[in-house]
Amino acid sequence: MIKRTFNLLLIVGLLSCKQDNVLTNSFNPGKLWLDTNGEHINAHGGGFLIYNNTYYWFGEHKITGKEGNRAMVGVGVYSSKDLYNWKNEGIALEVSNDSNSKLIKGCTLERPKVIYNKKTKKFVMWFHHELKGQGYDAALTGVAISDNITGPYNYIDSFRIHPGVLPLNFSQDDFDNASIIESRKDENWKEKVIKGGFLKRDFKGGQMSRDMTLFVDDDQTAYHITASEQNQTLLISKLSDDYQSLSNEYVRVFPGQRNEAPAIFKKEGTYFMVSSGLTGWKPNPGKLAVANNIMGDWEFLGNPCRGTDEENKTTFWSQSTYVIPVLGKKDAFIFAADRWRPENPIDGRYVWLPIKFENNIPYLEWENSWDLTIFND
Ligand code: DGJ
Repeated sequence: MIKRTFNLLLIVGLLSCKQDNVLTNSFNPGKLWLDTNGEHINAHGGGFLIYNNTYYWFGEHKITGKEGNRAMVGVGVYSSKDLYNWKNEGIALEVSNDSNSKLIKGCTLERPKVIYNKKTKKFVMWFHHELKGQGYDAALTGVAISDNITGPYNYIDSFRIHPGVLPLNFSQDDFDNASIIESRKDENWKEKVIKGGFLKRDFKGGQMSRDMTLFVDDDQTAYHITASEQNQTLLISKLSDDYQSLSNEYVRVFPGQRNEAPAIFKKEGTYFMVSSGLTGWKPNPGKLAVANNIMGDWEFLGNPCRGTDEENKTTFWSQSTYVIPVLGKKDAFIFAADRWRPENPIDGRYVWLPIKFENNIPYLEWENSWDLTIFND
């Protein structure tokens, strides 16, 4: 009897152990997504890095309640071998308790992205950083580095970008002819934006940088892509060789077109960018663009969503954050997006959808539940 009870306990124990390790083998967009400890994954505005055949997911660690969108903890990191089951690896970059640090607890830290520099063997994190108590006015990009992928990351600095440097696709003549925008009530506001009114305003002190992402190309050149000029224009900049600063090479993309949430991927030599419009935490129609060269020219292709009107207007109630290439599968990419919950940010959900292609043009369809076999077709 005792032996039988023992065996039963052993079996129950083994089963629960197994469940601890493998929670799911499907993606269920918009639903709670439990990590291997059984807690909803807390890594919003995420960025992904594949290293040693493992996926790492970096994201904003939110807290409960309306304050949850401020950085009270830092950047969380999770790891996974299969993209379904994620282990919490802790806090990769902690906010500071030192009132002299720009990264003080209570600042805003969004959309962290990490890349690995093969030459320096350092992991380099970039993120959108706003100073505590200053809303979204500072518009800085921040950098932190680590020798270990899961951290701890050492914060280096946050700054405006390219002070005193003109974009490669903006001439001195363009600059001279631009008129500085003082207020949104300026006449021909949009026209002035396109002609560089904000670029000229911020020329000396550096350009604004808000929603951002990073992309490492096949030749290991890395790029910083960010929403600048009051979110009206994207800037794409080449990073320095060590990935820890920006080079002087950058271009303006879609001036005046109001893009946020950029995410870039490359398929057979062609670059695609998904992004969103500009509606705060509320979703809006997604956007798709294509280029043969990451520094442009970029061509706008429209909304990649193929769903109901409501789904197309809201990108399936989500906003892009990253496109994840799937290990071991050719041309398999996952659109990773956030369904924000500003009233309780920690409860924000993740919307992951397979990227499908028709005539080599990417598109998205809703899936209630799906798995990686979708890429076998
Ligand atoms: C939309 C951005 O994409 C988010 O990262 C965040 O900055 C919100 N706006 C804030 O309203």
